[in-house]
Amino acid sequence: MQKKKILLGVCGSVSAYKAYNFSRQLVKSGYEVEVLLTRAALNFVRPETFQAILGSKVLSDEEWYADTKESHVDDAYEAQAMVIFGATAATLSRMASGHSDNRLGATYLSVRGPVLIAPAMESRMWKHPSTQRNVTQLRDDGCLFVGPISGDLASGRKGVGRLARDETILKVIRTTLKARQSLPKSHGLKSLPERHALVTLGATREYLDPARFLSNPSSGKMGFAIINALLRKGWYVTALCAHTTAEALVPEEHDAQLRTLYVQDADTLAALCEQVIVETQFDLAFCVAAVSDFTPVNASTEKIKKKGEGMSLALKRTRDTLSLLGASQRIPNLIGFAAESENYISNARRKCIAKGCTWVALNAIAALENESGDEHESAFESDENRLWLVPPQGQAIDLGRDLKKKLAERLVERVVRKT
Ligand SMILES: Cc1cc2nc3c(=O)[nH]c(=O)nc-3n(C[C@H](O)[C@H](O)[C@H](O)COP(=O)(O)O)c2cc1C
Repeated sequence: MQKKKILLGVCGSVSAYKAYNFSRQLVKSGYEVEVLLTRAALNFVRPETFQAILGSKVLSDEEWYADTKESHVDDAYEAQAMVIFGATAATLSRMASGHSDNRLGATYLSVRGPVLIAPAMESRMWKHPSTQRNVTQLRDDGCLFVGPISGDLASGRKGVGRLARDETILKVIRTTLKARQSLPKSHGLKSLPERHALVTLGATREYLDPARFLSNPSSGKMGFAIINALLRKGWYVTALCAHTTAEALVPEEHDAQLRTLYVQDADTLAALCEQVIVETQFDLAFCVAAVSDFTPVNASTEKIKKKGEGMSLALKRTRDTLSLLGASQRIPNLIGFAAESENYISNARRKCIAKGCTWVALNAIAALENESGDEHESAFESDENRLWLVPPQGQAIDLGRDLKKKLAERLVERVVRKT
């Protein structure tokens, strides 16, 4: 049988050196590999080393015009898939806007098989709205993202931005090539065989101008605790992550089970939910994100200047993600979160019914205050929480007061038992 050919695009990131070993792994897994280096990649890796490993010529911008092939993008026609390894912010931007001003960009536009992107960059670069816009665009164009993952970065800092592990990228290549020859317009989130959960987490930000936003103190701790509890139980998780301050560390052995998409504001979160539920059959969803109910009617593109003694801000309602998921009836087990300070069980039950949830997980702010005797202890940023699971009818289940990690274990245990 003829081997499937993979075009391995390597970009100018510190992680480029990892492509030496990765290209060898691809060959060992039975693929034919052709390496394409960007100009910046040549600062980090040598074509001669790839030639020695693979025994084949390496493509680069240096000899693009001198190449004797019939067309300048023939390599794209011969490949069954393209992998962008250590994708830089610059390459993501180039691909998202269709720039063909280098060999990798022109080749990408000509590939018709799946395109897998494994980004690598500093956290701040990855989380920047412009990078995230490019990622969203590329997902819409059918590219599949693998990572980046959280952990130690080349700079010595910790955070999200680390290149996914070789095994993970290989696994996704195998699954993708087995599943289909070419990737239709999708979000790269087709359901994998494992049971699949959707988790929204963090605080949305509604920008008034480039420097100011409306938000809330949600840290994302509870959301990350739930994600980790699900991963430990072998679930596949798609996380839609708004702004978080908690550490997003996921043990490396679970990288392959987790896909994270970043969002900024409530309406983008709702739009992304709408897309992912069409493309993926989720078995359950935990909506932990603290979503703003209102957003400015007119956000300014420039910083608002001080004028006069005051200003008033016109706000409009945002889209309600939980109601949207409930109304879709596509998720058999939908768990909404509510933070209540009074009549908490009955308020949570009302919310459960109104939004079409299976359960509402209730953070009872007042209960936490009363038990601790503290002036005001918010569940938002704390390591602890006080939780009940409230169904539309019948008895609420008291999960007690505990560390969020432990409560997440109990919560997932309870919910998964019912799925
Ligand atoms: C030492 C060094 C390390 C870099 N590492 C990264 C990186 O990990 N990710 C990234 O997006 N850019 C990184 N850059 C910046 C890119 O090399 C630069 O944006 C380049 O234009 C990318 O070109 P390419 O995408 O065509 O490979 C780094 C730059 C330097 C000087």
